[in-house]
Amino acid sequence: MGTTARIALRINPNVDADTHRYITTGLNENKFGIYEEDIEGILERLPELSNIELIGIHFHIGSQVESLEPFERLCNKANDLNDYIEEKGFKLTVINVGGGFGINYENPNDKAIPDFEKFFALFEANIELKSHQNLHFELGRSIVGQSGSLITKVLYTKEGRTRNFAIVDAGMTELIRPALYQATHNIDVLTSEGQPRVYDVVGPICESSDTFRKEIELPEVQRGDILAIRSCGAYGEVMKSQYNLRPNIASVFSDDLT
Ligand SMILES: Cc1ncc(COP(=O)(O)O)c(C=O)c1O
Repeated sequence: MGTTARIALRINPNVDADTHRYITTGLNENKFGIYEEDIEGILERLPELSNIELIGIHFHIGSQVESLEPFERLCNKANDLNDYIEEKGFKLTVINVGGGFGINYENPNDKAIPDFEKFFALFEANIELKSHQNLHFELGRSIVGQSGSLITKVLYTKEGRTRNFAIVDAGMTELIRPALYQATHNIDVLTSEGQPRVYDVVGPICESSDTFRKEIELPEVQRGDILAIRSCGAYGEVMKSQYNLRPNIASVFSDDLT
């Protein structure tokens, strides 16, 4: 069509994000990105591709990264690659360091907003931008993660041999993160203030991995009680499925925080 696509190279920087292996994306063993040893060959080919204009480099080392060290290692790698590609005669205007900054799943009320000040200070101190360059971030989870809850009803309670189960009407079809990544979401009981009891909170789907939390202390619950599974704003509804012919659930949006 005679147009030019402006592109960034997604580079796999081989930086360990120190997070769950299923949400680690920037190691050589991961499927994502262009490996460092392939960059040279790509740069050699780019001038032949008249409909492609290289404007940036892009990295994303993983999700739910809870310490800042991996980002420091990423900055060092990005600086080296930035210099290397610019020395080859390309003008990079965008350095995109992806997302990954973790949120606090244990304490979503008191720690609703991650420490962005520290995060951005780390980049300020470590990334070496040239005067024509902008730094881009993709902080999806960090911004929206705490803004959604999955509201679910207790269908049954069951006294198992070694555990008490609270079986709820939501399942891995509505929030797959615990089953997929062993993610731990906090749970609030909205309708009971009973004596504390330890539960496994599980969905109704015929999979043992259909479990939201193991051994969580909650006020005693009964059939009909309503629970809020917290921190579902990221990778909750967007990863829903109709597995086991489960219907889609409704979403309610509100600015009312009460
Ligand atoms: C390329 C890219 N950027 C950003 C993100 C967002 O990361 P996070 O979940 O940590 O916000 C993802 C998540 O998969 C991603 O693949």
